Amino acid sequence: MKRSFYWFIDLYCSSDLKEPVTALAHSLNSSGIQIENNRMLIYFQDHDSAMQFSLMFSRLKKELVELGLKGQVDWSLKKGEFQQWNRSWQKSIRPVEVGRSLIILAPWHSYAGKRVRVIIEPGMAFGTGQHETTRLCLEEIERLSSRKPMSLLDVGTGSGILAIAAMKLGIKKVVAIDIDHDAIKAAIKNKEINKTGDILLVQASPSALKGHFDIVVANLTLKGITGVFKELKRLLDKGGNIILSGILIEQEHELLRFLASQGISEYRIIKKGKWLGLTL
Ligand SMILES: C[S@@+](CC[C@H](N)C(=O)[O-])C[C@H]1O[C@@H](n2cnc3c(N)ncnc32)[C@H](O)[C@@H]1O
Repeated sequence: MKRSFYWFIDLYCSSDLKEPVTALAHSLNSSGIQIENNRMLIYFQDHDSAMQFSLMFSRLKKELVELGLKGQVDWSLKKGEFQQWNRSWQKSIRPVEVGRSLIILAPWHSYAGKRVRVIIEPGMAFGTGQHETTRLCLEEIERLSSRKPMSLLDVGTGSGILAIAAMKLGIKKVVAIDIDHDAIKAAIKNKEINKTGDILLVQASPSALKGHFDIVVANLTLKGITGVFKELKRLLDKGGNIILSGILIEQEHELLRFLASQGISEYRIIKKGKWLGLTL
């Protein structure tokens, strides 16, 4: 039966809190987040998920207060009608221009410009183009694609955004993997929308793969990257590049220490907001 209501958290907080709140909302399968100055509207498709967010946010807030958070936080759980939700949620998703040639669109956006279109159904998996770490990777893929690489491996593909962009930028062989079944389902849907059917999408971790790639990209977390780094190196072709992201700026030294321990001292660092990307 078609649901006619949705639930959302109407939250006011200082800008320091936006990052942990967004991460929490993503981990609880929020359907979308709208941010206007210090107000965040966090949408959920069912009441239980919204309640769970409320509960976990109370705990998160307590931990942050113990860590010295002083800013005021206020939130309430609200109910709305689906018709309005669609309109308001869709309005919160804006086209994102990335680098010199890409634009990330939702299926309902129309665009007549010259940029290469990557269409992503939002809310199904991480990777809508709204997050800095995704954009860091996209910009590096775009930059490296001018060297005409033949192949790319996307480790942790989420929505499939990096793999789809890579293929549309002319990379012929693109393999994308994720350990999460729902991410693979989302990536398959996005691959169909973009008509980039040649991307090979597999639910797997890098240890299951063979072969070599000119570019290996992994937008994970610092822990995730260090955990699979040996595999990323094994899958890289001689003279190829590894693009890493998902690292907070304050983790830079830890990451560089780790890379030094792996004998790597040549890299290009790029930063966006609180996030860091690295090309080796
Ligand atoms: C931050 S999202 C990145 C999504 C997309 N690539 C982007 O750049 O926006 C990380 C993804 O990596 C997946 N992941 C985490 N560890 C992984 C691993 N060891 N192997 C494959 N996928 C992994 C997660 O399930 C998640 O979908």
